[in-house]
Amino acid sequence: MDMPGAEVVKKRIAEIYPSVYLIYGQNRSAHAYLIKGDAKTVLIDSCLPDGVAGVVDALAEVGVAPEDIDLVLLTHEHIDHAGGVPFFGKKSLVAAHRLAANKLTLQDEFVLMNKAFDSSADAFRIDLLLTEGAVIDLGRYELHVIHTPGHCSGAICFYEPNHRLLFSGDVVMATGIVGGVLQSGNISDYIHSMRRLAALRVEHLYPGHGKISDRAEADIQKGIERLETLLDESKMLFKVVQNSQHGFDHIMRSLRDLNR
Ligand SMILES: [Fe+2]
Repeated sequence: MDMPGAEVVKKRIAEIYPSVYLIYGQNRSAHAYLIKGDAKTVLIDSCLPDGVAGVVDALAEVGVAPEDIDLVLLTHEHIDHAGGVPFFGKKSLVAAHRLAANKLTLQDEFVLMNKAFDSSADAFRIDLLLTEGAVIDLGRYELHVIHTPGHCSGAICFYEPNHRLLFSGDVVMATGIVGGVLQSGNISDYIHSMRRLAALRVEHLYPGHGKISDRAEADIQKGIERLETLLDESKMLFKVVQNSQHGFDHIMRSLRDLNR
């Protein structure tokens, strides 16, 4: 039981699989994951800019200093995942999908979610552009890049096939929660991405938010069902709008008029 007046310190880091650590996201930040391979050490995602000190403290708890990280891998471009890169990128290589990298290096405010998190990151560079099928060999663990657009266009998951681990960012979370369709995302790409994840037979799901899960296949399936429902509901919505008094015509006319 907590003593009256005692400060409740939230758990910062936990080993969830041998040499794989979850660094818990604080204050709306996404989780980060540390993987200590036999040859290389990587950090997956980097939290919000104001969470960097907490990540550094968490790393120190397991004897890792920022300069020990060889590579920072970004699951996608949103600031709650990429905001720590101006710090970690000074010492480590940074990698992201080429579509995420493009938005990040151009500081495209329309898609980085800075406003939603009331935060912004200093400019930084992405050293390595990842595409579908790339493999990162850490020694003991190898991470396969799977391009999974839908939440946003630059979303990737990292899959470890020998241990059936999936680092899923915001694509899918425990109990099948999905990250939503944000700017540059769309529902049909999302469903396609999730069906590809379903084919992998993942066992351990390590998402960007919430709890980790050892029921990954069921979680992914539930996520697909949610997205299919969303697609059906969006079709109903469009039908209602089309059957309304004005339909889309006045909206389309307004759009065309903008060019005059
Ligand atoms: Fe996101």
